[in-house]
Amino acid sequence: MLELIVAQNAAQGSRMVADMLEETLTNNPRALLGLATGGTVVDLYALLCQDYAAGRVDFGQARTVNVDEYVGLPASHDQSFAWFMRQHLFAKTNIAQENVYLFNGAEDPQQEIARMADFLGAHTIDILLLGVGTNGHIGFNEPDRTFIGPPHIVELAEETIQANMRFFQRREDVPRRALTLGIGDVVKAKKVILMAFGPQKAEAIARLFGDDLIDPQLPCSVLKLVPEAYVVVDQALAAAAGLAQ
Ligand code: F6R
Repeated sequence: MLELIVAQNAAQGSRMVADMLEETLTNNPRALLGLATGGTVVDLYALLCQDYAAGRVDFGQARTVNVDEYVGLPASHDQSFAWFMRQHLFAKTNIAQENVYLFNGAEDPQQEIARMADFLGAHTIDILLLGVGTNGHIGFNEPDRTFIGPPHIVELAEETIQANMRFFQRREDVPRRALTLGIGDVVKAKKVILMAFGPQKAEAIARLFGDDLIDPQLPCSVLKLVPEAYVVVDQALAAAAGLAQ
């Protein structure tokens, strides 16, 4: 079932999601957390780090898996998602390194997607945290004619490469491919929380709640298949999407 939660603002929405993640860990300290990167989740991770420092949450047995990574970027590259996770969460909590599962952007991509498929074949994500693109993408699953079920390699769109150029010194350094969990991996999670704040994401969320379709042109619409899924938005987005409560 898909439920919309409208928070006052992004800060309150991040607090709500932090509480949901922490509740999952209280009930199951070994829970497998599925994690995303990007601007939306920065405040959430800061709250988790604060709560850890205050002794309110313990990640000692928690396990994590990340949804995506650029092909070609080693974990030591400051634009890699592995670097992002270290900066924003792993280095500031007691998540054990051996419990962290990431695509390795520096390894052979075919080998990496096979490794991730094996891992997700053997482990179920207890709570999967996602952001969403303005076009409805989740992970690196972009709008397309079909869904791809398992972890896979994505050729990045020219507009994505252009948009990423500001983070790199030379155009040839911008990754052209990425690794991502597939749609099948997303719908197998026990619980999914998608966070979207600000009016720029309103169109995608309005489309998501506008009908009952599961549409590969709107990848986030697969959340309608998940047993327990929440979309946490702020009031600015809800108002722009015509979903104000
Ligand atoms: C990143 C990821 C992406 C982002 C999405 C939103 O790991 O999976 O799907 O969640 O692009 O990004 P932000 O939060 O930067 O707007």
